[in-house]
Amino acid sequence: MKKILIQLDTDSLPSSFDRVVAVDAGVDELFSYGGVTPDNVETLVHGAIFTRKPSDLVNTAIFVGGSNVAAGEALLKAVTKSLFGPFKVSVMMDSNGSNTTAAATVLAASRHLDLSKTTAVVLGGTGPVGSRVAQLLLQQGATVRLASRSLERSTATCAGLKEIADVSKLSPHESQSDAGLAAACEGVDLVVAAGAAKTRLINAEQLSKISTLKVAIDLNAVAPAGIEGIEVMDKAREAGQTILYGAVGVGGTKMKIHYAAVRKLFTSNTLVLDTAAIYDLGASLS
Ligand SMILES: NC(=O)c1ccc[n+]([C@@H]2O[C@H](COP(=O)([O-])OP(=O)(O)OC[C@H]3O[C@@H](n4cnc5c(N)ncnc54)[C@H](OP(=O)(O)O)[C@@H]3O)[C@@H](O)[C@H]2O)c1
Repeated sequence: MKKILIQLDTDSLPSSFDRVVAVDAGVDELFSYGGVTPDNVETLVHGAIFTRKPSDLVNTAIFVGGSNVAAGEALLKAVTKSLFGPFKVSVMMDSNGSNTTAAATVLAASRHLDLSKTTAVVLGGTGPVGSRVAQLLLQQGATVRLASRSLERSTATCAGLKEIADVSKLSPHESQSDAGLAAACEGVDLVVAAGAAKTRLINAEQLSKISTLKVAIDLNAVAPAGIEGIEVMDKAREAGQTILYGAVGVGGTKMKIHYAAVRKLFTSNTLVLDTAAIYDLGASLS
């Protein structure tokens, strides 16, 4: 029976990136829909679950994507709500690459650090990628400082994480001021810069003052770098006592995880591949 992937994209034009990955991951048929919202998704889900016998639904799966991660989160909720009893298909959510990027970032760090003994700061931690990096680090037992230009925003993001992770080792920080950034970075083993593209979050001098730093990862691929001194292609580059990763250096693992997650969808009809499940899958590949 043919493997059908139903791509539900919150943007008006379904992502060509996600379409190429789906084809290269081996799906036989790809049905792509754009402009999908929680209000219009139910009929699309019913079309997926009421056509094949429940025992054949392992061959049908749904991918939720689009550039707006909050819209993707809402759509994932609506999709899973429309599934019931034996009428289920597996679903993966990776709006704007948020889950696969966060998983690849934390996996890169885990190659060099015992995360259960790691203190990390996530700069730009209020964004969809940064908050997922924080979530995954917490779930691996790390102590996490979530930093933003605004203490109010980092506090709100930390409060949101309470619903999905043990936040006893999580604290919000302000990193706009020099003093705030220095306090957030004091004594950390790991710095992750997850700020918006083209934004410098920490300069080389500020980074050099973190005497405990072992790993620094910058996810911004568009100059200027989020962490001054990291190149986009860096992949475990050693600079003194610190290991450096740039956005493309993390990107190879991200792509591997994306391919593997699409393939995994067709191993069961009950999977929901969101942040934690996508990380676990990535960990199983290494
Ligand atoms: N390699 C990959 O495959 C891949 C995939 C997806 C994303 N990415 C990259 O990962 C990074 C994070 O993605 P995202 O979607 O989470 O980013 P985002 O939502 O665009 O931005 C993340 C955070 O950056 C901060 N920020 C925004 N403008 C800023 C400015 N001018 N100066 C300083 N901070 C600013 C904001 O935090 P506050 O306002 O709270 O300070 C925001 O919440 C991006 O650089 C993105 O390009 C890479």
